[in-house]
Formats: sequence, C-alpha cells, structure tokens
Amino acid sequence: MGYPHTPHPRETRVLSEHFGVAEARSLDGWKKRGGYQALQQALGMEPTAIQQVVKDSGLRGRGGAGFPTGLKWSFMKLGDGKPHYLCCNADESEPGTFKDREIMRWTPHALIEGCAIGAYAIGAENCYIYIRGEFTEPLDVMERACAEARAAGIIGPNAMGSGKTVNVWVHKGAGAYICGEETALMNSIEGKRGNPRIKPPFPAVAGLFGLPTTINNVETLTAVPHILNRGAAWYKQMARPDNPKSTGTKLWSVCGNIARPGNYEVQMGFPFGEFLQDVCGGAPHGRKIKAVIPGGSSVPIITWEEAESAVMDYEGMVAANTMLGSAGCIVIDDAQSMPRQIARLARFYAHESCAQCTQCREGTAWTTKILERIVAGDGTAEDFDTLLSIADNMTGKTICVLSDSCATPVVSGLQRFRHEFEALITRTTVHAVPVLVG
Ligand SMILES: Cc1cc2nc3c(=O)[nH]c(=O)nc-3n(C[C@H](O)[C@H](O)[C@H](O)COP(=O)(O)O)c2cc1C
Ligand code: SF4
Repeated sequence: MGYPHTPHPRETRVLSEHFGVAEARSLDGWKKRGGYQALQQALGMEPTAIQQVVKDSGLRGRGGAGFPTGLKWSFMKLGDGKPHYLCCNADESEPGTFKDREIMRWTPHALIEGCAIGAYAIGAENCYIYIRGEFTEPLDVMERACAEARAAGIIGPNAMGSGKTVNVWVHKGAGAYICGEETALMNSIEGKRGNPRIKPPFPAVAGLFGLPTTINNVETLTAVPHILNRGAAWYKQMARPDNPKSTGTKLWSVCGNIARPGNYEVQMGFPFGEFLQDVCGGAPHGRKIKAVIPGGSSVPIITWEEAESAVMDYEGMVAANTMLGSAGCIVIDDAQSMPRQIARLARFYAHESCAQCTQCREGTAWTTKILERIVAGDGTAEDFDTLLSIADNMTGKTICVLSDSCATPVVSGLQRFRHEFEALITRTTVHAVPVLVG
C-alpha cells in the first residue's frame, strides 16, 4: 500500500498530521497533541451553538454525498423527549477508498472525540462506530482507545466532569459493502439483515431502533474537533477563492497504476493534474495515465485529458464530468484494458447487491455477464444498446444507489472508451495481459 508515505510538501496535513506516529494512538499521546480540548469546550456549549460552528465552517460529509454536516445535525429535533443516536460510518468498502482505515489505525482518539462532540450536538447519549468486519487492526485499536477514554471518564456518564452522558461504542460489521448504506448499517446494528430501508422516513425521524438518528462518515466526524479548536473561519478559508461551497482539507486515497500510492491530504481546490503527476508521481514504468476514477468506484470514469485540468473539490469534479464521492482515486494506465476493468467493477456490484430490487438484482448480473462475454471475445454489436438500456433501467429506480453505482462506470466507460469495446468485438486488438488495479 505504500503508507504512511513521507509527507509531500504540498500536502496540508490536518487529519493526517499524526499518521505513522505510534504514540498518538494512546490517550496520553493524544492529549499531548491537544486531544480532547475541543470536547471539553463543546460540553460547555449549547448543542445548537456547536451545530452553528459546523454550519459556518462549510464542512460537508466525506462519506460520498457531500451533504452539509451542520445542516444534517440541525434536522435532529432537540428536546423531543426521545433517545437520539449518532452512527459513525466506518464501513469503508467502496473500492479505491482506504482513508477511514488510516484515521482509525493512527488517531483513534481523534475519531472518538469527533463522535462525542457530534453525539452531544444532536442530543444523543450514544454513538455507535460501525467498523467494516475485515478491518481487524482498526477494530482492535478503536476498542482499546474507547476503553481508555471510558476508564479516564472522558466518555460515559458525566463525560469530562460535565454532568452530561456521552457514550461511544464500537460495533463490528460482518463484511458486506451494502452495510455502508446508512439504513442498511442501522439494520445491521439492530441485528437484522443489512438491507437498505425505503425512505422516507428519513433517519432523523425514524432511524436506529426507530428513533431519531444521524449518520456521519469517519473523516467527517474527525474534522469536527479541529473546527472547534481552530474556528470555522480557519476551516472555511481552505477553499478556492471563487468557490466557498467546498471547504477544508480532504484525504484522497490513491491506488492503481500510480508511482506513489497512499493517502494524501490536500486543501479543497488543489489542481488534480498536478496532484496526480507531481504529488503522487504519475504512472509508473514510464507509462501514461489513461483513465481516472476519482471518487471511489461508484463515480464516472474520466479520461486523463479531463482529469488533468480538473480541480479537487465537489464542484470541480462535477465540472470535469465526474464526482468527488469518497475521494478513493483509482488510476488506470495505458497498459490496461478498460472493458476488463469495467467488467471487474460490475462483478463487484453484482456480488454486493442485496437483491431487494429487481432492477439491481437482475441488472448487475446481466451487466456482468455481457461485459465478461465481451472481454472473452464473444461480444456482439447489439451488446452496446443492451448494456445502455439495462443501465438506464438501473438508474434512479431502486431503494438505494448501489444499482446506479454499477451503471455509472458502464455508461461513462462506454462513452469514453467505446473503441476498446469495439476492438474486442471485431477482434482487431489483442490486449496486453492486464495488470489488475483497485
Ligand atoms: C451502497 C452504499 C455504500 C456506502 N458505503 C459507505 C461507507 O462505507 N462509508 C460511508 O461513510 N458512507 C457510505 N455510504 C454513504 C452513506 O449512506 C452515508 O451517506 C454517509 O455515511 C453519510 O455520512 P456523511 O454525511 O458524513 O458523508 C454508502 C452509500 C451507499 C449507497
Ligand atoms: S439498489 Fe440493490 S443494493 Fe440497493 S436496495 Fe436495491 S437491491 Fe439492494
């Protein structure tokens, strides 16, 4: 994986500042680095005042959708007499994304602090951190850190002597991509099969155990203590001067055909071409980058030409015909077969579909079969129309967006690399033995 790498001078290391520093994992080590000062401050504030600071900072959810965090918190009706819950989404199963794992491995107390502040700000006494089942090391680290924080009275009843109860619990997932979808995650915590729920009702009304719930990503919550410590204005100025809608720093996981893979933290608005070439070293072995999937496997594939001039923030990625998503950046060089890479992604989604919706259950399976047939050299010219028609049926018509996520690489890949599919169908090209990525 090549991580922790030597930090690049063009990175802005806020969340990743202590990655690779073993001492920062312990409670004492974290306190030495200013840990839990933000929680102490937060427990002396009104929950709505914390919500306002987070709103002012412009922080948006780092789990994929980019929804404004302070606004999401304000949907929780304070004083309604019901128990509230915060769920921290640490499922991180999106191909290409591996940033939350590093936050948990190296700075577990930063996440606990963010969870405790978030819980208090939405009127919750309990936060569950739902960790992907395969993440054995992060799970151990988080459990140990929670035990330490509980023993020291930082979390629990009378948290930090405030008289307020804030608990943080670790919950181990069982290894299903779909459990990262927020309502499937809640079902899984409740001990049910991890199937997404039909919305409405939205989680802020009826979430975990049928009670008001907020779900936030690991990176989102970890940013919160920094915002309280250093102020909303400090966070907000880390943005393009002409785009105040994307603020702060962002962790980018970079993998595939790239010379220096790893997690990099840069300010919103960083130039994507320079990031891939200068910061990450470009394609290895003198090859050229052919395609990039910037935001995890669910976002549109773009060409190097589109990526080179793109800007790394939510709006910049949309302008480049893709999305920021979870910033799990998969780099594909000119030695790779795009049909083969796209077929591989489709197989992933077919495997992970929970099968509740016909369009998704059938669509992901048919898409995979057709793509694998094309890759095997048995495709037909009609396959293009069939693939696009299935993709259309899979988009915007299901309970959750896993179905759309399978259609996205197919449609964007066919739009940009149709010639590679055609070459396989007409057998004019024999591809080099592909190197698998992602
Ligand atoms: C199939 C699927 C998988 C998802 N997996 C994750 C995940 O692993 N981690 C995550 O934070 N969000 C994931 N999400 C998004 C969550 O549903 C949710 O929007 C997010 O956790 C909200 O946190 P945020 O507002 O802090 O971004 C997934 C969504 C879908 C549809
Ligand atoms: S879209 Fe797919 S994964 Fe999502 S609920 Fe429907 S069948 Fe399940």
